Amino acid sequence: MSDTKRFFTHCLLDWNRHQNSREMPWKGEKNPYRIWLSEIILQQTRVEQGWPYYERFIAAYPTVNDLAAAPDEEVFRLWQGLGYYARCKNMLAAARTIAATLKGRFPDTYDGIAGLKGVGAYTAAAIASFAYNLPHAVLDGNVYRVLARFFGIDTPTDSTAGKKLFTALAQEVLDPAQPATYNQAIMDFGAVVCKPQQPLCDRCPLAVRCEAYQKGLTDLVPVKSKKLVIKKRYFHYLLLESQGSVFIRKRTEKDIWQNLHEFVLIETAAPTSIDGLRESPAFRALTNGHRIRFTGSPAELKQQLTHQTIHARFLRLSVPATFHPPADYLQVPFDALGQYAFPKIIVDYLNR
Ligand code: ADE
Repeated sequence: MSDTKRFFTHCLLDWNRHQNSREMPWKGEKNPYRIWLSEIILQQTRVEQGWPYYERFIAAYPTVNDLAAAPDEEVFRLWQGLGYYARCKNMLAAARTIAATLKGRFPDTYDGIAGLKGVGAYTAAAIASFAYNLPHAVLDGNVYRVLARFFGIDTPTDSTAGKKLFTALAQEVLDPAQPATYNQAIMDFGAVVCKPQQPLCDRCPLAVRCEAYQKGLTDLVPVKSKKLVIKKRYFHYLLLESQGSVFIRKRTEKDIWQNLHEFVLIETAAPTSIDGLRESPAFRALTNGHRIRFTGSPAELKQQLTHQTIHARFLRLSVPATFHPPADYLQVPFDALGQYAFPKIIVDYLNR
């Protein structure tokens, strides 16, 4: 290994030993089930946001068998607010596989772990190293950034060449004598010192040999080749109310929020006025022949997802008892809505 690479690993571990004061409930954890749970929660969620969810999941389901035995709806309710529900669905499927085929014993090899639903290379390396001290380097956004800056690499991280290069480099600078400590150290270092914005270079022990710092390029690496395209969507939620109840359905289509519930939805490609909405074929078909009364004032909320911005408008309408919605809707009393899992934007609306 080159002197620079040795310096990198040594300095990072030294920083971890003497200066890393980051505390998280799963740190130092050896139970693979708990580590797995924390890593799934943290896949697209910030540590501060994921922390209470982790605590609640551990309390509700102390073992993988407990999670496997839980009803879908209950687990989705507990996940509510975390978003990216495919994670929750895959997690439940993996727990059930472990319970059914491995007698509840968590796999203890990298390949066994990587074979679980919803577990990619990053998560498999995290679990293998944290739980079993297996020498697999984690490669997440933090690691890409730290490596790209220190070694001055401008190969796009989302290119095939970049993935290959960074994967090999990450593995090379891992300390095989202490994979768990090393992996946690590089992630914490990326989160605390080598941050995406305003990194703490003036206090960084690696700065003396950091390529990006020495050349004034910290804001320019890592490089991504694809620009994120964000699509705007306009959701008009109709709360069709009748006798203290409202109609909801489960989203089953291959789209955001699969398995979560929602009110009657009309989606438009562009912003639409309420009058425009009332004139639309979808609205006319829905209310066909019924006497519909708007009640209350409309509310508008926005949610930013990774690839799309959801502009949601909520409209309350009173419908007669004779009204029949499309077949997949349930009529649920308002005070029973708490039994269903909803996307964050609907929870926010209901909590106002
Ligand atoms: N993000 C995902 N896993 C993490 C971990 N173990 N520590 C800090 N941040 C993380």
